[in-house]
Amino acid sequence: MDILIVGSGGREYAIGYALKNDPNVNKIYFAPGNGATDKLGENITISDYKELAKFAKENKIDLTLVGPEAPLVDGIVDIFKEEGLIIFGPSKAAAQLEGSKVFMKNCLQKYGVPTARYIETSSLEEVKEFIKSLKEPIVVKADGLCAGKGVIIAKTKEEAINAASDMLSGKSFGDAGKKVVIEEYLDGFELSVFAVCDGKDYVILPAAQDHKRLLDNDEGPNTGGMGAYAPTPLATPDLLKKVEEKIIKPTLNGLAQDNIPYTGVLFIGLMVVDDEPYVLEYNVRFGDPECEELMVLFDSSVADMLYKAATGNLKKAEVKFKENTYAVGVVLASKNYPYGKSEPAEIIIDEIVHEDLKENSYIAYAGVSKDEEGKLLATGGRVLVCVGLGNSIKEARDRAYMLAGQVHFAGKKCRMDIAHQALK
Ligand code: AMP
Ligand code: GLY
Repeated sequence: MDILIVGSGGREYAIGYALKNDPNVNKIYFAPGNGATDKLGENITISDYKELAKFAKENKIDLTLVGPEAPLVDGIVDIFKEEGLIIFGPSKAAAQLEGSKVFMKNCLQKYGVPTARYIETSSLEEVKEFIKSLKEPIVVKADGLCAGKGVIIAKTKEEAINAASDMLSGKSFGDAGKKVVIEEYLDGFELSVFAVCDGKDYVILPAAQDHKRLLDNDEGPNTGGMGAYAPTPLATPDLLKKVEEKIIKPTLNGLAQDNIPYTGVLFIGLMVVDDEPYVLEYNVRFGDPECEELMVLFDSSVADMLYKAATGNLKKAEVKFKENTYAVGVVLASKNYPYGKSEPAEIIIDEIVHEDLKENSYIAYAGVSKDEEGKLLATGGRVLVCVGLGNSIKEARDRAYMLAGQVHFAGKKCRMDIAHQALK
């Protein structure tokens, strides 16, 4: 198969990395890719979706994979399908699960899926009224896509009202905040569960845990994710059964009945409170950095699974995971992340001499580019993810940090406690 991967981050690199070693894969293209994906395939610079579909047709691409949410919410899947192309991802209608928090919350309510108590509204009066019934802290969310910044955990009722007011007036997030969701705060631990779906059937991947806060001990501002690991022992078989029965099945059945069958990755952001899972949010794609760990846990062809999912044949795919194997990923970020841009800095990686580390780790490159001399530069944001594998979380984590120690660039920073909840 020739495969086109849309996106430019560590998630897309990781998918490419898995496909590079997949016997079903011939050639990989990235649109646009980054300064390191050209080691795995060819970067192309087309960004218009119709032009990209034309490229896919002309180059006989067998399967297109979409990393980030924005193209999915914009309807890239519909555009490719109109051209008779095979693409793995939800339709524009189904991508509203991530594109609109109001749509998502309404689905959850309609299908009886457990989630935090909430209202959706454009009226500040209604916000004030509902907030009276809640305990502090209070969660305020902008409806639309805000690049992961549209959620505010307000410590007081006053702060919540101010945050909602700024969203509704368009001050904080423009049109994305014209509607808001106000919800009760859930106090528990978070999990990321991924289901690969083909419109009828689904496969659940090993449960992961992300680390959204910038600093150790889950302190500091929210980020896109500073590290993740999978499978997490916090997701007991009993809990996963509940996720499947109370969340995945009713969601997929409900969407199908509403004529929005779901194809693609359903990323379920969960809060677990007293052994009960509640949906915080749905995303319509792989998580980043969760994907970087998941991609190296497969013991079967990822390309075959995704192709069969894209064509409604997931039942026929053999999906296996490496036994007794864990992956831990540590994000190395730039100096000013997540507040602002950072100066480009050359990345230097020591030669890895330990066979053991060579065989059980890899780097997923994200915010990198190449200069004219071909030197790899950290260009800001989350620069790369050091992923370690092992027969225990501790072993995998030690390897991830050993690898992280071999990577150098000015301003490099990372959390030192990835997987802490599993190692307590
Ligand atoms: P989201 O963008 O919806 O994933 O929210 C970002 C983060 O805010 C989540 O990962 C949680 O840590 C937190 N969060 C969102 N909703 C709630 C809630 N109802 N209760 C507690 N924390 C929440
Ligand atoms: N790691 C969280 C996300 O991709 O949204």
